[in-house]
Amino acid sequence: MANLMCKDLCMTFVNQQTGAKVEALKNINFTLKKGELLSILGPSGCGKTTLLNMVAGFITPTSGVMSLGDYFIEGPGADRGMVFQQGALFEWLTVARNVDFGLRMQGVAEDKSREQVNKWLTTVGLQGFADTPTYQLSGGMQQRVALARCLVNDPDVILMDEPLGALDALTREKMQSLILELWKKTGKTIIIITHSVEEALLLGERLFVMAPRPGRIQKEYELPFAEWGLERSLRDIKLESKFSEVREEILTMIWNMEEEIMGGT
Ligand SMILES: Nc1ncnc2c1ncn2[C@@H]1O[C@H](COP(=O)(O)OP(=O)(O)OP(=O)(O)O)[C@@H](O)[C@H]1O
Ligand SMILES: [Mg+2]
Repeated sequence: MANLMCKDLCMTFVNQQTGAKVEALKNINFTLKKGELLSILGPSGCGKTTLLNMVAGFITPTSGVMSLGDYFIEGPGADRGMVFQQGALFEWLTVARNVDFGLRMQGVAEDKSREQVNKWLTTVGLQGFADTPTYQLSGGMQQRVALARCLVNDPDVILMDEPLGALDALTREKMQSLILELWKKTGKTIIIITHSVEEALLLGERLFVMAPRPGRIQKEYELPFAEWGLERSLRDIKLESKFSEVREEILTMIWNMEEEIMGGT
């Protein structure tokens, strides 16, 4: 069982010019079991991206440790895949060339790689688009490519930083359903950062609400909606009283944090 464990993670950035310190994260502790779906919400600057980049191995914590299964996380690795907000694809390359990027890096044989690429393109609903240049695709289709590019490498953990943030509402809802489908189908551990409270409720069996200064986990929820979303339409779920209850509670919490931030500047 490749559990992801973060223990006493702290990250303090020091401004090189002024020497001013920012406590981007302080004492972050959690364990994600294999296959868990975690969403993270919180006001701008509360350390969400910093936390994700740390788990990805892009930045080293000031203190604390992270492990995945039996290994300590000390840098980037193929066991963790990233899906960014739009714009992280090689737009001048074809869809297939984007998706097989990791496989080519590993020297996987051409026919094996093509088979894998086609399998994942079909899974994300892009069969027939392998030879299309990526710049010709809509935003939603490009994010499907980004998902396929991540999945083809078979990571244990998928990290997503606002992956649907640039999409229109309808496309976004379709992509939310796709993420739930992929979660169930692949059994991957997924962490997804979002600014949308509704999205965090739908795409998190667990949800962390983070607070800034210092960046920390303010409250954790365990939620049934992601599981429901595998069977029911997301629009239906949003009409449930339990859904609006939690949504209002979280909106108020974040509203108060933002008020505090505004008051403090
Ligand atoms: N490389 C860096 N050097 C200095 N300060 C940084 C660096 N990266 C992040 N910070 C600071 O750390 C804090 C957390 O930043 P982070 O990007 O993690 O926030 P976030 O929650 O992702 O915000 P947003 O919702 O706007 O994306 C901010 O105060 C930010 O200015
Ligand atoms: Mg961010």
